[in-house]
Amino acid sequence: MLETVKYLLGSAGASGYGSRSTAEQVTESSPDLRHITAIITGATSGIGAETARVLAKRGARLVLPARSLKAAEDAKARIVSEFPDSEIIIMALDLSSLTSVRNFVSEFESLQLPLNLLINNAGKFAHEHAISEDGIEMTFATNYLGHFLLTKLLLNKMIGPAAATGVQGRIVNVSSAIHGWFSGDTIRYLGEISRSGSDYDETRAYALSKLANVLHTKELARRLKEMDANVTVNCVHPGIVRTRLTREREGLATDLAFLMASKLLKTIPQAAATTCYAATHPRLVDVSGKYFADCNETLPSKLGSNLSEAARLWSASEIMVSKSSTAIFDPSSQLEY
Ligand SMILES: NC(=O)c1ccc[n+]([C@@H]2O[C@H](COP(=O)([O-])OP(=O)(O)OC[C@H]3O[C@@H](n4cnc5c(N)ncnc54)[C@H](OP(=O)(O)O)[C@@H]3O)[C@@H](O)[C@H]2O)c1
Repeated sequence: MLETVKYLLGSAGASGYGSRSTAEQVTESSPDLRHITAIITGATSGIGAETARVLAKRGARLVLPARSLKAAEDAKARIVSEFPDSEIIIMALDLSSLTSVRNFVSEFESLQLPLNLLINNAGKFAHEHAISEDGIEMTFATNYLGHFLLTKLLLNKMIGPAAATGVQGRIVNVSSAIHGWFSGDTIRYLGEISRSGSDYDETRAYALSKLANVLHTKELARRLKEMDANVTVNCVHPGIVRTRLTREREGLATDLAFLMASKLLKTIPQAAATTCYAATHPRLVDVSGKYFADCNETLPSKLGSNLSEAARLWSASEIMVSKSSTAIFDPSSQLEY
C-alpha cells in the first residue's frame, strides 16, 4: 500500500529518483557521453526511441539496429532534427531470426567501433501464436533468444575496449514486472509453446520471455565477474506506458484497460528513465546482476532470483543458438534441463 502511494506521488527512493523521474533528469549527472558508443535495440518507437533521443542529447554515438530501415531512418531523422551533431548509424536486425543477429554482428564488427553500452530493449507481445524461423515461439525468440545471441556475440567487443580504456562497459536488459507472473518449468513451457497448434496463452508467453531477461542478467553477471571483465549487466522494469507494444490488440477493450490504469501509467520520458539510469548513472559503477524499477534497485520474483534456474536457462539457450530447437524440445532427446 505504502509502495503504491509512493509510486503515485513519485516519491524519490534511495537513488534520489522515483516513478516520475524522466530520462533527461536521470542523465543530468552524466552530461557528456561523447566517449560512449551504444547499441540500442528497438529504438524506432516507444521507450527505446526516447532512450536513444536522450543518449544522443548527452553526446553518445548510437548504433540503432531495426528490422525496418525506413522506421530507423525516421527515428534517426527525428533525433538529428533536435540534435544536429548526433552521430547515428542504422543497421538491419530482426531479433526473431538468429541468422539476422549473426549478420548484424558481422556488419557491426566491420565498422571497427568499440562498444561501451548495449541496451537490449526491443520487444513484442504477440497476440497470435507464431513460431520463429529457428523453431522457437515468437515472443521468446524476439524478446530473449535474439538478445541472448546478440549479447554473446558482442561481448568481446565490450570486454576489450573496457579493459583498454578503463571505461566500464554496461549492458541493460529491458524486462518487465510481469516476469513475476510466470511460474512453472521454463524450458518445458517453452518447448510446449514452440510446437505449432499448441495451446497458447499470450500473457504467459510474454511473462516467460521477460523472466528470461532477468535470468539472463543473473547468469551473465556471474560469468562476467568470473572472467574479471570490466563490464556490468543489469535489468529494468520500465513501468507501464502506452506504446506500440499493444499494437496487435488495439480496440475498445485495450482502451478501457489503459483508462482504468491511467493513474498508474507513466509517460514515455518517465518510462525511459530506469533504462537510462542503469545505462549511465555514475552511482552504478561496479553494480551488476541487479533489477531496477523506478530508478531504484528492487528484488525480482523468487524464480527470477534463482541462480540454478538462470544457469539452466543459459545452458538451454547455448544449445538453441548453436544447433536447433529440436535438440532440447525433442522428447526423445537425452538432454535434461
Ligand atoms: N510499454 C510498457 O508498458 C512496457 C512495460 C514493461 C516492459 N516493457 C518493455 O519495454 C521494451 C520496449 O517496449 P515499448 O513499450 O517501447 O514497445 P514498442 O513501442 O512496441 O517498441 C518495441 C520496439 O521493439 C522493436 N522490435 C519488435 N520486434 C522486433 C524484432 N523482431 N526485431 C527487432 N526489433 C523489434 C520494434 O520495432 P518495429 O518498429 O519494427 O516494430 C520497436 O522499435 C520491451 O522490451 C517491452 O517488453 C514495456
